[in-house]
Amino acid sequence: MPIGFFDSGVGGLSILRHTITLLPSYDYLYIADSANCPWGERDNNFILNRSRQLTRFLAEYGARLIVVACNSASTNVIDQLRVDFPELSFVGVEPGVKPASEITKNGRIAVLATRATSRGNKYIRTKEKHTQGKSVITVAAPELVNWVEHDREINFCRKAKLSEILDPAISFGADTLVLGCTHFPFLIEQIKACLPDEITVIDTGDAVARQVERLCKSLEIEHGSGKLRVFTSGDVGVASKLVAKLMCISHMECETIEK
Ligand code: DGL
Repeated sequence: MPIGFFDSGVGGLSILRHTITLLPSYDYLYIADSANCPWGERDNNFILNRSRQLTRFLAEYGARLIVVACNSASTNVIDQLRVDFPELSFVGVEPGVKPASEITKNGRIAVLATRATSRGNKYIRTKEKHTQGKSVITVAAPELVNWVEHDREINFCRKAKLSEILDPAISFGADTLVLGCTHFPFLIEQIKACLPDEITVIDTGDAVARQVERLCKSLEIEHGSGKLRVFTSGDVGVASKLVAKLMCISHMECETIEK
């Protein structure tokens, strides 16, 4: 009984790596929909239809627990997936505004996310519930998704672009920056290098992994042998190299999934 993960691309690997570290004896399936990435620039119909297809695929391969390792999908369509697939259990991800509001000292929080997440009803509800009396700015950063999908090298031009992207958060006076897209933890060092030292950066990958652990126990998901299969709708050769690099493993042979 593998645990299934999907994302618009390789970003959800930032959640998977925390999960494998915590729960190394389960089997995992991961889908990177890289041919259709970025989802953050798409409408909810597209995100829902594609999420349904990928969920069905994972269920056919035996997954009963699905991690929607994508803020853009989780914040917009996870409630509908729960209605459509009552036999499955889902874990979602959403920007960590709750931990941010617990640690901010000046009450000013910046969330770096996709445009789809900024409008996500789950995100809006969580903000209303947990950030009362605090000020929150959401900054869209679609370029960063592309950088992770294609090439993380930060050259001179990109450093300038990254500073430009982060400028609204700094000018806003935020003391806490939330990484609200699963692609962004792969750029955490580069992001921190562009921020003043006093800004704390929040990544919730570890908290999501602990939620997966709780569900594995309550659903009595069977242990496996730590096997990982990765499917991509993009180029298999490119994905294999990229996944190995991001997961810090020597070799990965990705498989194809239809676009
Ligand atoms: N990694 C995804 C997220 O967390 C989607 C990024 C994108 O495809 O725009 O929102």
